Amino acid sequence: MMKKIGIVGAGYVGISTAVLFAELGHRVTLVDIDKEKVEKINAGKAPIYEKGLQELLEKHVGKTLSATTSYDIINESDIIFICVGTPSKEDGSINLDYVRKSSEEISERIGGYKVIVVKSTVLPGTTENVVIPILEKGSGKNVGKDFGVCMNPEFLREGNAIYDSFHPDRIVIGEYDKKSGNILEDLYKPLNAPIFRTNLKTAEMIKYASNAFLATKISFANEIANICEKIGGVDVYDVMKGVGMDHRISPYFLNAGVGFGGSCFPKDLKALIKFSEEKSYKPILLKSVLEVNDYQPKHLVDRIEEKVGSLKGKNVCILGLSFKPNTDDVRESRAIIIVNELIKRGAHIIAYDPKAKENFRKLFPNIIYVDNVDDALKKAEICIIQADWDEFKNLDYSRYKNLVLIADGRRTISKKIDIPYITVGYRW
Ligand code: UDX
Repeated sequence: MMKKIGIVGAGYVGISTAVLFAELGHRVTLVDIDKEKVEKINAGKAPIYEKGLQELLEKHVGKTLSATTSYDIINESDIIFICVGTPSKEDGSINLDYVRKSSEEISERIGGYKVIVVKSTVLPGTTENVVIPILEKGSGKNVGKDFGVCMNPEFLREGNAIYDSFHPDRIVIGEYDKKSGNILEDLYKPLNAPIFRTNLKTAEMIKYASNAFLATKISFANEIANICEKIGGVDVYDVMKGVGMDHRISPYFLNAGVGFGGSCFPKDLKALIKFSEEKSYKPILLKSVLEVNDYQPKHLVDRIEEKVGSLKGKNVCILGLSFKPNTDDVRESRAIIIVNELIKRGAHIIAYDPKAKENFRKLFPNIIYVDNVDDALKKAEICIIQADWDEFKNLDYSRYKNLVLIADGRRTISKKIDIPYITVGYRW
C-alpha cells in the first residue's frame, strides 16, 4: 500500500532513501533547511554526485518525490525518517544538535499515529534517551500508543549509495514495539533482503560495530603489510588473497594501503572509543585500529625519504586527493596527512585529482594544483598515488624520465614499470 513518507535531511543518506521509496511506489517528501538544495531537487537535479541518482530524480520529481524547507509535511506523513548529520566534535564525541532540532520539529507535528525512524548514526541509547523524550515532550503524546519509533541504520558506501540502497545485505530494524517494527518491515519487504529485528540500542550498536569491524580489517591488512615489508619477497596482496579465501574471513576490505578516510570510519571509531571510555572501558583494539591508520601515510613518506633522501626542496606530486576514488569528498582523506608531512619536510607539492581539487584547495590553499595528470607528472621528481582513480591505473609512467620514484599508496599500478617504485606491503 502506498505510504506518505517524510525524510528529514537531504544528504546522501536522505536522498538515497528518498529515491528508493519513490521507486517502490510511495509518496516521498524531503525536508532540508538548505534552500538551494531543495530548489535543485525540485528542479530534478541531483545536489550531490551519486551514480544513478540523477536518473531516479528525473523519473520521480514532480510526480511522487519533492523537497521542501518546511517541516509541515510531517503532519500528513505516515513514516518519518531522520537522516540528518551527526558530525564529530573536537573531542571525538558526536554532535547531536541536528538530531535534537529535527526531533523537536517533528514532535510539534505528530497529530495522528505515525512511525518516526532514526537513520542517522547515533550511539547506543540515543534514540531511547534523547529522541523519544523530545518527541513525547513536544507532542504531549506517548510513544507506543500515539506514535511508533524505530532505529534503522544505513550501510551505504559513498558513490554506491543508490546501488546499496536497492541491494542491501541486510535491513536492521531496531523497534520500540512490534507495531512500529511491523510497519517498517512492510516498507522494506519488496527488496527481498534479510531483515533483522531487534531493540533500539542493539540496532544503534550494530552500525558502529559494523564500521569498526570493516576498519579493523583494513588496519589488520595494513599491519600485516608493514610486517611483509620487513621480510622482503612477500606481497601482502597475495597474502590477503590467500587469507580472504577462507569464507569465515571473506576477501573484502583487506586491501592494504595508506589507510581509510571518509565521513564514516574515522568519525564512528572515534565516537565509539569516546563512548566506551565514558563508560570506563578502554577499547584497546579500536584505539590500535586508528593508530595503525594514522601510521600508514606517515610511514609511506618515511619510506620515500629512505629511498631518495631528504624531501627538502624536491618536487613531489600527489595523485588523488579524495578519500577514495569516484568522489570529491576529502573528509579525513589520507592525502591531508601526506600533504602535511610533505610540508613539514620542506617538499614542493603539486596536487592533482579529477574531482576533489576544489575541496582540497579549501584546506591547503598554498600548494600548487594542476588540471591534468600529465602536468603533475612532468613537473615532479617523486610521485605519490593516494587514491586509485582509474585514470592513474594505465598511465605510461615510463614516459616521465624526470621521475626518480613512484610511491604507490593504493597498489594502483599493476604493470611492471622501469622507474624506481615502492608500494605498501611489498619489498623486493
Ligand atoms: C563506509 C562503509 O563502507 C559504509 O558501509 C558506511 O555506511 C559508511 O562508511 P565509505 O566511507 O563511503 O563507506 O567508503 P568505503 O568504500 O567503505 O571506504 C572507506 C575507506 O577505506 C576509503 O578511504 C578506502 O580507500 C579505504 N579502504 C577500503 C581501504 O583502505 N582498504 C580496503 O580494503 C577497503
